[in-house]
Amino acid sequence: MSLHLGRTEFGSISNKGNVLTRTEAEELFHTWVLNPKLKLHMLQVAGLMKAWAIEVEKLTDEESWKWEMAGLLHDADWDQWPDLHCKKIIEELEQRNIDPEIIRAIASHGHLHFGVEPLTQMDKMLYAFDELSGLIHAYSLMRPGGYQDMDLKGVKKRLKEKSFAANVSREDIQDACQRANIQLDDLINFIIPHQTQITTE
Ligand SMILES: [Fe+2]
Repeated sequence: MSLHLGRTEFGSISNKGNVLTRTEAEELFHTWVLNPKLKLHMLQVAGLMKAWAIEVEKLTDEESWKWEMAGLLHDADWDQWPDLHCKKIIEELEQRNIDPEIIRAIASHGHLHFGVEPLTQMDKMLYAFDELSGLIHAYSLMRPGGYQDMDLKGVKKRLKEKSFAANVSREDIQDACQRANIQLDDLINFIIPHQTQITTE
């Protein structure tokens, strides 16, 4: 089954600045995504995207919502329509005349699957957070204290263990860090304290 999108242009430039309201985005999220584990993953990625946009990129609230929205909806179709991932959510956002930047970030979060290169910093950070956030969460679940006292060394050890969270692509993580021009250690050190705060809906 190929998830290749067969195109690299999304939305229309005339829709620049158009976003869903938080209520609209949450409604779509809760209607489309029923699996609580997937919901948590998407909320974690959304929280990381928002935090990075504000703290590192120093973006405004308006701009940072675009990053958060991309994170919140990036896997929206994975639960009920895995064969249409991420074609369905892209088409939905195009129909709703959403800013192409947001749609593009979603379309490029797995470039080997979807055939869309991450180009903007928003694209690259969504790609970078997606896999690594999942691995760090899996690690928290096997630790008695969860995220408490989790450190860089422990996460790196799990990364080296190929059998741990084996579905998490180590190659994608390395590739994402290179593309975003971020050291892996810095990314891990950013995710641990921020993700700790996002454990429930
Ligand atoms: Fe994801």
